[in-house]
Amino acid sequence: MGTASKKILVTGGVGYIGSHTCIELIASGYDIVVYDNLSNSNIEAIKRVEQITDKEIEFVQGDLLDETLLTQIFSQHQFFAVVHFAGLKAVGESVAQPLKYYKNNVAGTVNLLEVMQHHQVFNFVFSSSATVYGDPEQLPITETAPRSTTNPYGRTKLIIEYMLEDLCASDPRWQVVSLRYFNPVGAHDSGKIGEDPNGIPNNLMPYISQVAVGKLEKLRIFGNDYPTVDGTGVRDFIHVVDLAKGHISAIDYLVKNSTDKKESIGFFAVNLGTGSGTSVLQLVNAFTEATGQIVNYEFSPRRAGDVASCYAQVDLAEQNLNWQAHLDIYDMCKDTWHWQSQNPNGYEK
Ligand code: WQD
Repeated sequence: MGTASKKILVTGGVGYIGSHTCIELIASGYDIVVYDNLSNSNIEAIKRVEQITDKEIEFVQGDLLDETLLTQIFSQHQFFAVVHFAGLKAVGESVAQPLKYYKNNVAGTVNLLEVMQHHQVFNFVFSSSATVYGDPEQLPITETAPRSTTNPYGRTKLIIEYMLEDLCASDPRWQVVSLRYFNPVGAHDSGKIGEDPNGIPNNLMPYISQVAVGKLEKLRIFGNDYPTVDGTGVRDFIHVVDLAKGHISAIDYLVKNSTDKKESIGFFAVNLGTGSGTSVLQLVNAFTEATGQIVNYEFSPRRAGDVASCYAQVDLAEQNLNWQAHLDIYDMCKDTWHWQSQNPNGYEK
């Protein structure tokens, strides 16, 4: 069967990475159903995805914990796989409200997996994160690096990975690709969709773009005394479109393993990054070079919980998923600015 007959449930598909992945799933010929509770996203994003793809998107507003609604959806559709983005992801909020994170992210995912199992849907792509590596002992970080986390948000990602490993070990019908994202940034080149954080951005790139567009006064660079090229933090920034395409490669990998009747892949964790590190200051300078926009900043004390450097070993994705990132830091800055300058207030909540 070609991809056209493959139907994918995309949980959290209205969000930043989810909406970009919906575009790539449609472009690759998959049919999609989007399931999102809109707690941290704006339905306008789906309208923009429909404009970009010229396709009507089947959207269901619902919560991961709503077993009745999920059951109803799985009764109506024969899904080949689920791409699971839905989840709370603010590190600081997770420290203040851990139960909210464990209930929504962990209990919600258990509920989803139970409904999948009941309906014999065993292909799963999980939105994981480099946060499961904690403070890396070695760089670049390989998928076999020890996992440890320092905040409830990161722990929910790690607990879900452990759950998925146990599930795959219990039943070979389960095939799981756990995509460990490094630092997603950028926007679709149409400028119609992009990152639209609630309130003041926690993450660097949306903060930079909101300073550039005049919504925020100045960027505080958290620490310039790290043992790095210029003292500021180093991260593996990856363009959200490259990241979205990594999900297509993961689905294609599941399709291939299902049709070739090879032995189950079981639980397969893979890094999605560029494999190279960029410092905070280098990103600020690249943003100005790429967009002509000045970004006012000052140095501030380090942010609790930050690691000095974090970037990926990406051989596994290249070898097994035949995927690698192609867009560079200037594309990330240019596309971010195109989105932000066209949408100074995001999707206008
Ligand atoms: C990047 C660098 C900061 C803001 C987080 C989550 C991780 C993942 C990606 C979900 C660091 C510096 C930032 C600012 C700054 N999210 N910075 N001023 O912390 O690497 O990762 O987002 O999965 O789980 O932990 O990303 O963008 O917050 O920070 O100087 O206003 O930018 O110190 O060095 P981070 P970030």
